[in-house]
Amino acid sequence: MIAKFQDERDVFFDRRFGLFVHWGLYSISAWHEQILWRGSMRRKDYEQLIHQFNPTKFDPYAWLDLAEKAGMQYICFTTKHHDGFCMWDTEYTDYNVMHSPYGQDILARLAEACHKRNFPLSLYYSCPDWHHPNYPNQGRHHEMFGPRAGDEPNLEKYYEFVRNQIRELCTKYGKLYQLFWDVNVAEYQDPGLNAYIRSLQPGILINDRGPGPGDYSTPERHVPDASAFAKPTEACQALGRESWGFKEDEDYYSDKFIMQSMDKILAMGGNYLLNVGPKPDGTLAAENIASLEKIGTWYLSIKEAFEQTTPASYLSQKDEILMEGSGNRMVRDQFLLTKRDNVVYVHLYNNPQSTAIVLKPSATLPTKVTLLNTNQELEARVDLIPWHWKDKPYLRIRNLPVNEMHDTVMVLKLEFDESINE
Ligand code: GLC
Repeated sequence: MIAKFQDERDVFFDRRFGLFVHWGLYSISAWHEQILWRGSMRRKDYEQLIHQFNPTKFDPYAWLDLAEKAGMQYICFTTKHHDGFCMWDTEYTDYNVMHSPYGQDILARLAEACHKRNFPLSLYYSCPDWHHPNYPNQGRHHEMFGPRAGDEPNLEKYYEFVRNQIRELCTKYGKLYQLFWDVNVAEYQDPGLNAYIRSLQPGILINDRGPGPGDYSTPERHVPDASAFAKPTEACQALGRESWGFKEDEDYYSDKFIMQSMDKILAMGGNYLLNVGPKPDGTLAAENIASLEKIGTWYLSIKEAFEQTTPASYLSQKDEILMEGSGNRMVRDQFLLTKRDNVVYVHLYNNPQSTAIVLKPSATLPTKVTLLNTNQELEARVDLIPWHWKDKPYLRIRNLPVNEMHDTVMVLKLEFDESINE
């Protein structure tokens, strides 16, 4: 069981699904948000993109409409990515959106929309900075290869700048839900900085990629091979396979791939932050909109399986049979469970093989079994199957529409008379 914070931060456990937005000058080069580090552009050319940044179609309400429609409960926005370009009106560098043709504080507009809608706002802030003269770029990962003429590398001084910017972010844009630090390459440690953030934004949640231990961990594009998280977790994943920022010729994950990873992370007790990279004009790619609609429709149909539930895969998570003769183990199905009182949810995140699943070692018959995706009732039996002839009868759920519903993740709701594991 994950230990809760026992304070205002416990909203974390109710906000399960969020929208991550990577947006900055890199949307114009339309290749990857790290185009500078990954080598295909020079800094002096990249920095000229500021003169082209003019997202006349940016409408924060359109983003929020889509997020809300998908069942998302918060948004996390890149205020400053590794390139150092700031999407808000900051006093501490001119390399910001106010100096672009657009000339408006993007973050202020987003924050206003979020507060009007009562939609929690989280901010992403990169530790490395490829523009600021004090950041010691030394060619480590996520860094430029060295200082340029006129730079004055000085980590302490750089973090004074960070502290000033963080103060702006924490005081000018209303209530914040989370601060998402990214890649502490220089391994700068100053727990005072997180304490400072908490003093300015009581109740804020801070991730584990910054200058001090945070509140939660952040696996990225990764689904751990486990059945439950031991600590608070927010996994992040992009819809595009190659980039977080807008990529003109992006290769997109299948909706089903995302649903499978999302179902597994959520069933393990983690939260899921799903990313889009808006285009230079501020709108989202048609592929992103279509995926969020599809994934959202699926999520809304099954989300009760994550509400006030706890991971319960200790009850059953695999149907495996020892083959007499060869000695092989035949793994038939893998799934995860969540549970609330006397209701158990079965997450078939891993392509069920047949029209039935066997929930070994459970042998209790539920009073009702529903396929949440469609609300159709399924048959349940506790009986001996031939493969188990020397074993015992187990709970078997039948008539799964596996051939009809192969482009989604099925979640089953099992209602019992009484709590089944106490
Ligand atoms: C990575 C990347 C970055 C992206 C982030 C999202 O650390 O450097 O580009 O913003 O992950 O979690």
